[in-house]
Amino acid sequence: MECLPALRRSALVQCRRSHRASSPIFLDFLAPTTLHAQRRYASTTGPTRSSKHPYVLSPKQREYLDGALRVNQAGELAATLIYTAQTPHIVRSHPHLRPLMKHMYDQEAGHLKTFNHLVAKHQIRPTAMYPVWEVAATFLGWSTAALGREAAMACTEAVETEIGSHYNDQVREILSWEADAERRGEELDDELKEMVATFRRIRDEELEHLDHAVAHDSKEAKPYDPLVDMIRLGCRTAIKISEKV
Ligand SMILES: [Fe+2]
Ligand SMILES: [Fe+2]
Repeated sequence: MECLPALRRSALVQCRRSHRASSPIFLDFLAPTTLHAQRRYASTTGPTRSSKHPYVLSPKQREYLDGALRVNQAGELAATLIYTAQTPHIVRSHPHLRPLMKHMYDQEAGHLKTFNHLVAKHQIRPTAMYPVWEVAATFLGWSTAALGREAAMACTEAVETEIGSHYNDQVREILSWEADAERRGEELDDELKEMVATFRRIRDEELEHLDHAVAHDSKEAKPYDPLVDMIRLGCRTAIKISEKV
């Protein structure tokens, strides 16, 4: 878990580097999206390996993808921080859970690294709420772990339910673009196909975390319903805000 600060730093450093490398002036943060329409997801307008014409993303689709990647990066940051805050409490009272906590944390750290890379590559502004989510996620992890193992697992169940369905929506959206491309006799760029495969893999890993939480008595948390409902509402609110801000 000692690599977390490096992952967080790398999100911002990589983003700055990619902006500098491609911008004559460093104004990307303030510039309107349309200025970058030609550069962002540039490969989605490039040649594909097949003879079909490439499917060109509309400004609305690019905006959707920007928001999706911004939210995913923020969500994965939050996930790593929740596990970082929970693990010492949980492992102290339930040492047998150390491998499980480490396994879930390691997967979250891998997800964060993936989205740090994609956000930098596509020159997407990370959410301005980054510092707020850092504090909120750490508090959520710490407080649920303080309530006990079941509450910590209920937290995982709630977060993964929302995040899993969020990734599912993104997969469904990109697959609808693929269907649209097929109707037009066009083809999605390889990079976008790879992105949807990445979203699917990560969604499945999030749902695996949800299964682990339920298997480790998340439903026994007290009070289960208010706790889970509150965390799910918090997740949905954070997703909505991070899409735009
Ligand atoms: Fe994750
Ligand atoms: Fe997860």
